[in-house]
Formats: sequence, C-alpha cells, structure tokens
Amino acid sequence: MRVPVTLSTSLCVVLLVFAGVVTCSPVERNPRRRSQSKSLCAQLIQPSGYPCSEHSVQTKDGYVLALQRVSAHTGGDIKAIPGPPILLQHGLFQGGDTWFVNSKEQSLGFILADHGFDVWVGNVRGTHWSHGHISFSEKDKEFWDWSWQELALYDLAEMITYVYSITNSKIFYVGHSQGTIMALAAFTHPYIVEMVEAAALLCPISYLGRVSSQFVLRMVNLHLDQVLLAMGVHQLNFRSDIGVQLLDSVCDGHMDCSNLLSAITGKNCCFNESRVDFYLEYEPHPSSSKNLNHLFQMIRKGTFAKYDYGWWGNLKQYGRHQPPAFDLRRIPKSLPLWMGYGGNDALADLKDVKQTLKELQSEPELLYLDHYGHIDFILSVTAREEVYNNLIGFFRSSGMFST
Ligand SMILES: *[C@@H]1O[C@H](CO)[C@@H](O)[C@H](O)[C@H]1NC(C)=O
Repeated sequence: MRVPVTLSTSLCVVLLVFAGVVTCSPVERNPRRRSQSKSLCAQLIQPSGYPCSEHSVQTKDGYVLALQRVSAHTGGDIKAIPGPPILLQHGLFQGGDTWFVNSKEQSLGFILADHGFDVWVGNVRGTHWSHGHISFSEKDKEFWDWSWQELALYDLAEMITYVYSITNSKIFYVGHSQGTIMALAAFTHPYIVEMVEAAALLCPISYLGRVSSQFVLRMVNLHLDQVLLAMGVHQLNFRSDIGVQLLDSVCDGHMDCSNLLSAITGKNCCFNESRVDFYLEYEPHPSSSKNLNHLFQMIRKGTFAKYDYGWWGNLKQYGRHQPPAFDLRRIPKSLPLWMGYGGNDALADLKDVKQTLKELQSEPELLYLDHYGHIDFILSVTAREEVYNNLIGFFRSSGMFST
C-alpha cells in the first residue's frame, strides 16, 4: 500500500509518536500552529493560567537548551505549597510541550504544578524549543552529530545541574521513553545521580533487543538509519519531504500501514483521536539521523552501550574495539525508582523491561497496565487516575514534602 501524499489523520497520529509525518494537511491549515517566535511558556502554559518562566542552559558541547519552570495555578483549588523541584524529560520526536497538550486535568505537567511541585520542563537539543548552538546552525551537519548518549551525558547532566543549583535542592525526575534511556545512562554517573532524589520512568527503556513493533523492525531491516546517513541526511525531520518518502518506503507493498499508530507503538487504549490536530501544532520535533542509528544499533545488537563507530572508529573514540556498555548495576541501590509500563507497548517490550529490572540493584516500584500502549503513558485521557496518582504517591512517600 502506498502512503498517499496527503496523509490521513490516523497516519498523522503516528508521526507524533515515532515516525512523524510531513504533509498532514490539517497542520498546514491550522492557524494556531506552533508559532516560530513564541516561547513554550507564552504559547501553551501561561494561557492556561500557570505562572511560567523561561530559562536556558549551555551544554559542554555548545548547545543552548530551553528549560521552563512552571508553578501552581494561582486560582486553583489545590493550595500552592512550595514543593520540591521535579524535572520532566520528553521522548523521541517530542518536546517539553508533550506534558501540557491535554487538558489541565489530564496533562502531567499541569497536574504536578497543582500538587505543589516546582515543575521544570526539559527540551533536548534539536527540538523546536532548543535549537541554539554557540557556533553551528541547524543547517550544518555538525549540529546533528549526536545521539541519546550526548542527550544523557551533556543535555540531561546540564539540566539537572542547573535545576539543582537554582533550587538548592535534590530533584525528582520523570522521563518518558527516550527520557528514560537518557536517565538510565546518566544515572550510572555518580556526579549526576547524587543530585537526584527519586525517579519515575514511563515506558522504561535501556535494552531494545526485543522491540516488537513491526514498523520499527522493518525500518531496521531496511537499514533506513544507515541509508539516511549515507545520503547525507543528518537532521531527521518528519515535516520534510524525506520524512514522507521514508514512511512510503517502509509501507510500500510490504505491510498494512492503515493503522500506523498501532504498527509503530503498539495499541494505545485511551488516545483522544479528536485532539490530533492540536497535537500536530507542536509535534513531531526533529531529531538526528545519528540518534536513530544508535537506537537501531541497540535493536540489532541487543546492547545498552555507547554509539558504535565500527572497529577502527571505536578504537579512536574509546580506545577499544567495542563501545563501552552502560552498566545498570552502577545506579545506586539507594535511588528510589518507580516504573510504569504497558502490556501493549511495542517499543518498551516486557522482555526488555524485565532485563532492565534484572540488572538494576534496586527494586523499583512497578505499575503494570495490561491495556496501555507506548503513548498512553503521556496522552491517555485516563492517565491521571490510572498512572499519575500512583506516581505522585511515590514521590510524596519520599518525605521531601513538608505537609
Ligand atoms: C478529546 O479532545 C477533544 C478536542 O480537544 C475534547 O473536546 C474532548 O473533551 C477530549 N475528550 C476527552 C475524553 O478528554
């Protein structure tokens, strides 16, 4: 089946999550589309009545990242007590907006602010909100020369250090999908993890060897990551022509792409289809082809390791022929962890999650939802009752709340 040039709404849904698309006509027509100049605070958070301030941090390798700080709704029912800082880290092809795109009652970012947390919103390099660099522009291939390894060791390390120093407090962490890969890699470093009080991981990923998504496996088998890099495509932007062609080549005659959302992420129980146009005003965000390549290396090799530059490249980069692995056993047993994962998640597969659990020293609190898919954990219309109340209970039990 060929993907038509004007993509259907259900196809567009997919893009949000993993593949992104390009010519979703509702996006182009929508006058409220994400503005090029307005900040995330001004565009999405302040209009809902929440005080929000923009912050920026610079990474060791020169990227300028935006962070937003959100506090309790001034007119809300729940009393605004000054709470501990909490950093929210989005997943692949998403940005900090992802925590605020449902209603105030449904979105984790707003809910945490209502509960008195001092909410900080991370945005990794390359996303719409964090596209600055001290010497490169997005047009330079050097700008896109990174994978989740740099997101973990530079972006996340810098954001955590910044929030820690401004608030003078250890911080809580919430990550989704790629935001959990970043955390699990970064937390193996003592100087980072010592600034973290406790962490909640939605769709936790370290190993990807058992990914069951047919769509992703087909991309891996077609070596689309290597093809992109060989073609000199360094920025992975599904709002471009190449993004459309990529999807087309995956679907063409080989698989039923009529329900791409399920094909990519697994079946999501509680996704609000009538909100897709609004989601598409913000997402998908760009990432790098090298990042896709690194993720596909993990699928091919079943490892949780640094980027594989090949035999000689590794020797030059790491002084050895194989890239060093991230050792989950180095995450201190004393770090309280909570994990939410779903039976229909085709990306964070149950067998891979079990492998992660086996290697961690600590025993995380677990919330398993049989009917949840990969994006239900951030966008489900019932996530508040099914996931977030439990997650907030976990943080509250840590004792950092004075009341
Ligand atoms: C789904 O989204 C629509 C459009 O934004 C909204 O009116 C509706 O209330 C949402 N449904 C649920 C169950 O939240």
